[in-house]
Amino acid sequence: MLLPAGVRIDGRSGAVTPATGSYAKHLSELAGLYRDKAAHAAMVAGQDPLAYEVVDYRHQDSDLAFGTTIMAPGRVGDEFFMTRGHFHERRECGETYYTQSGEGILLLQSRDGLVRTVEMKPGICAFIPPDWAHRSINTGDEKLVFVWHCAPDAGHEYGEILEKGMRKLVVARDGRVEIVDNPNFVS
Ligand code: F6R
Ligand code: ZN
Repeated sequence: MLLPAGVRIDGRSGAVTPATGSYAKHLSELAGLYRDKAAHAAMVAGQDPLAYEVVDYRHQDSDLAFGTTIMAPGRVGDEFFMTRGHFHERRECGETYYTQSGEGILLLQSRDGLVRTVEMKPGICAFIPPDWAHRSINTGDEKLVFVWHCAPDAGHEYGEILEKGMRKLVVARDGRVEIVDNPNFVS
């Protein structure tokens, strides 16, 4: 029998207590994501900053999983720090992203090329429909922390986004955040 549990989530730091797992992504592990290769290489050769961490709470045999993603603020060239972006392997699985602190943009793309964005800021819980690729982008000056919730076996399919990119880029232009066409997108 599964037993209930209370899990503490700190909305500022993103700490999950107790957590069952975590991983971190430094910029060096995110080659190919940014179009300014020189800026990426210079940052990797320097401090190779931590771009984001994912912490999870998974209860064995449960049909629910949740956790946090903690994204550092930063930019590579004019592009903000972002996650890799993925579809779920199990195409029928959606997800929610509930922002706790910071600000950002959730960029979503359907299989047939529709693009949508959802603002990420405290108080907004984004609904990610099944079979929409999703990437979060920290457009602010502080950490972007959100709670995600999906099926534990949803799985991640990274290949398509890694190979083709996403149709839109979120960039800093003249001190503003802009969503522009990705000139390198492979249709
Ligand atoms: C799980 C999910 C999040 C992301 C995390 C990192 O389905 O969407 O936990 O995995 O924000 O993003 P990726 O995995 O795209 O690097
Ligand atoms: Zn996901």
